[in-house]
Amino acid sequence: MARLSQMSAFQFTIFSLLSSFTLILVSGENLGFHSTLTHVRLYWHDIVGGSHPSAIEVVPAPSNKSQTNFGLVRMFDNALTEGPELSSKLVARAQGFYGFAGQVELSLLMAQNFAFVNSILNKVRELPVIGGSGAFRFARGYAELRTHTFNLTSSDAIVEYNIYVLHY
Ligand SMILES: *[C@@H]1O[C@H](CO)[C@@H](O)[C@H](O)[C@H]1NC(C)=O
Ligand SMILES: *[C@@H]1O[C@H](CO)[C@@H](O)[C@H](O)[C@H]1NC(C)=O
Repeated sequence: MARLSQMSAFQFTIFSLLSSFTLILVSGENLGFHSTLTHVRLYWHDIVGGSHPSAIEVVPAPSNKSQTNFGLVRMFDNALTEGPELSSKLVARAQGFYGFAGQVELSLLMAQNFAFVNSILNKVRELPVIGGSGAFRFARGYAELRTHTFNLTSSDAIVEYNIYVLHY
């Protein structure tokens, strides 16, 4: 189940951590497609302390001598809200992890999914195609995923993938 939920949703890899940021989505540029630029502004709530943290330590820093927590990894399921207050409208959830990657400076490496509506329990999920190799060099597109069978006891799944790709 956990393995499958990773496949859920809208995927992004973002290599910097910001407490609020702006997201630009660009689609179908110069490929005989009508292009759309969408600007989405969300606030990302990384709650580490308190009784209900949304980011939890999964790998401790190997040495407590590091000023930058080098090696520490946290997994998060953070709220993405319309405004900076946690009480403002929940738009999506950011699910992923970040690791402290700097030995001298505080620096983070992060990978996350923005889950707007998708879930393993949704009939159709979508994944982005952001690259390829061989015949699929420069590929861009998306895949639609439908669960063909899912065994609740073993968590084994058979998933139908329909992949739509633009490439040269
Ligand atoms: C740092 O780690 C060492 C070895 O694990 C431990 O003995 C020591 O108590 C730790 N110090 C602090 C301040 O946590
Ligand atoms: C589901 O998994 C369980 C445990 O592995 C297995 O015993 C059962 O036969 C599976 N059900 C189906 C329909 O494959």
